[in-house]
Amino acid sequence: MKRQYKKIAALAGSLLLAGFFSFAIAAGPAAQPAAEAAPAGYDEDVYGPAAPILWNKPVKGVIFTHKTHTMDMGLSCDACHDELFEMMAGAAEEKADFTMESLYAGKYCGACHDGSMAFASNTRCTTCHIGVKGMKRMSGGTKAATPAH
Ligand code: HEC
Ligand code: HEC
Ligand code: HEC
Repeated sequence: MKRQYKKIAALAGSLLLAGFFSFAIAAGPAAQPAAEAAPAGYDEDVYGPAAPILWNKPVKGVIFTHKTHTMDMGLSCDACHDELFEMMAGAAEEKADFTMESLYAGKYCGACHDGSMAFASNTRCTTCHIGVKGMKRMSGGTKAATPAH
């Protein structure tokens, strides 16, 4: 019973947030790049998976793309693997401390998104949080997410 209550409270919290993020996106410029498609000839062995990684816990619709970090920014795999992240989509969202508090403390994305190496984690929320609407847009645009071989 107690657990059930906690679950509901957490759900209500995320719904509020989801509302906030979809509002922010609806109000933002239409051209917000949700997930840039990997270009033709993108080499997954060199730059990591082409498909963006999406997390839904604790909140829905947080995005990470390898291409922008490796191909565009020139980061090597070991900048993130395996100290900050395992090479397994969804591993981080199983951890209880995958939260903004941790990012602000320099963990996970916050190791770089600290306002010096990359934009700070307490700014530009909707760059990482593409929200519920952004996710729908992405799943509608599967041809963009899967490179043609
Ligand atoms: C800026 C950080 C970062 C860099 C640099 C990076 N990755 Fe990743 N990688 C991630 C994150 C975040 C995940 C998802 C982990 C999670 O969900 O817990 C991931 C997941 C993966 C996965 C698992 C995908 C799946 O579908 O399960 C593979 C494979 C991978 N990375 C390969 C690479 C390779 C190869 C490189 C270097 C070319 C690289 N990564 C560089 C952050 C990075
Ligand atoms: C090893 C350093 C590093 C880590 C770790 C890292 N980033 Fe980045 N990220 C960068 C840099 C550098 C840029 C480009 C500079 C900027 O935009 O400030 C960037 C840019 C971005 C962008 C804008 C470009 C795009 O992809 O649309 C997003 C979104 C982003 N990061 C999300 C994340 C998320 C989410 C995580 C954690 C899962 C993460 N990053 C972890 C270094 C990092
Ligand atoms: C660099 C990327 C990034 C930026 C910028 C970012 N977040 Fe997050 N956020 C994440 C990640 C990663 C998670 C954990 C995964 C998930 O919840 O799906 C998360 C989770 C959350 C959560 C749920 C966990 C918690 O801490 O309560 C909230 C709320 C949240 N973010 C709010 C915000 C707000 C508000 C902003 C802007 C002030 C923001 N985020 C900016 C990446 C980011």
